[in-house]
Amino acid sequence: MPGTCVIGLQWGDEAKGKLVDILTEDHDIVVRYQGGANAGHTVVSSGQTWKLSIIPSGILRDGVACVVTGGVVLDPAKVLEEMDGLESRGIRMEGKLQLSDRAHVVFPWHIVEDRLLDGSLSGGGAIGTTGRGIGPCYRDKVGRALAIRLGDLYRDDFRARVEHVVDFKNRLFSSWPSGTTAPLDAAAIHAQYATYAERLRPHVADTNAFLLDAVEQGSRLLFEGAQGALLDIDHGTFPFVTSSNSSGVGVASGSGVPGRWVNRVIGVVKAYSTRVGGGPLPTEQDNAIGMHLRERGREYGTVTKRPRRCGWFDAVAARYTARLSGVDELAVMLLDVLGGLDELKICSAYEIDGRRTTQFPSQIADLERAVPVYETLPGWPDELDTARDEHALPLHARRYVDRIAQLLGRPVSIVSVGPDRDQTIIRDSGSARRPWHPLQPANA
Ligand code: GDP
Ligand code: IMO
Ligand code: MG
Repeated sequence: MPGTCVIGLQWGDEAKGKLVDILTEDHDIVVRYQGGANAGHTVVSSGQTWKLSIIPSGILRDGVACVVTGGVVLDPAKVLEEMDGLESRGIRMEGKLQLSDRAHVVFPWHIVEDRLLDGSLSGGGAIGTTGRGIGPCYRDKVGRALAIRLGDLYRDDFRARVEHVVDFKNRLFSSWPSGTTAPLDAAAIHAQYATYAERLRPHVADTNAFLLDAVEQGSRLLFEGAQGALLDIDHGTFPFVTSSNSSGVGVASGSGVPGRWVNRVIGVVKAYSTRVGGGPLPTEQDNAIGMHLRERGREYGTVTKRPRRCGWFDAVAARYTARLSGVDELAVMLLDVLGGLDELKICSAYEIDGRRTTQFPSQIADLERAVPVYETLPGWPDELDTARDEHALPLHARRYVDRIAQLLGRPVSIVSVGPDRDQTIIRDSGSARRPWHPLQPANA
């Protein structure tokens, strides 16, 4: 049975969590396969708001298995906090949540390194990470010598491993100016993580084996991407990226499930652009438009509460990531946020050093010089939040969505007009292969 995957096509926070929660109804297993506690995925249902981070957004539905694979970097304190929070609200984890024994574990030294190293990019500037130890943990994974995986927490030599790493890290930290960080205490860290390990034990599993059996037996898998494709370590706006493959290319490597089992790739975009942290955002509107988007869209980070930078929809960037991620169809989220603006702009090309291009630059210096070329479309005054089918949308809202579909070369099968599960327009099954409602002539 085929699988579906949900990929953010911008810089994260495209409302992937909302979409995954909705799609879970048609799937048996929801899989988180990269990233870690840097993710903040929101689901709103019947007036209740749920903030998910490492645990898949499918956890709110009954009868669905939720799997965190080895591609994720796992902070046990954060997972337990999340599990406790969900259980206190009546969501049971038992028999429902599996955590890969291959997942690399975030330790206190990773958090320290994240804090100390952000702001020391070789070219200057800061990435503005979430401070969750993500980059340092992935770095130790790739480096191997100092890596500890979830399965290692149950081995007899776990204490010796912690002592080995702490010894190394303390020597490293001591080379920083005195007072920058206190020495780590191996015994205390070991004791704390041994406690975490006992609590997590019922959930730890070989998720590769579980998922491979599941796909071969016909289970329907839903892969939940974290971050967005423009934050992909290899294909994003390096170095202002996260440390995992957050575009579609990461699904197989992160989950251990071959790409041949994914036959529906949904690219999720916000109807405009946002970015948290450093790095270029060519269409940024540091003005009244940006304020409108931030306030109407409540654009403040789920994890760090930082105000998100806001701007017009960037079709050059999203077309690149739609192609990169092998996207079949699009979900356009937060369309309601654009209501009340007289006119809307979409960036359909860049000008770099006077040359016009629709190709997304591979080099950050080129992207920093890119001047957006905008198309202007009429806005709409109406609130969209009660629309439940495409015909209930004002003509100009439909035209705006049509234009995104056209520029990205993919049909739009889902439109979101508010945070709630219900505030969603899903086109009839099979519609994904057809374009979004046929384009109206410009003078219609
Ligand atoms: P994710 O990281 O991609 O899951 O997205 P986040 O949860 O970090 O951010 C998306 C935000 O938009 C959340 O606060 C959602 O509740 C909210 N949201 C989702 N869909 C819509 C929508 O269609 N309209 C509005 N106004 N808000 C939405
Ligand atoms: P979700 O899954 C938005 C950004 C950070 C920073 C950069 C690197 O909710 O869409 P990291 O801590 O990963 O080393 O930070 O990536 N970032 C996100 N931005 N949404 C996210 O996740 C993000 N996860 C990381 O702000 O710029
Ligand atoms: Mg988020």
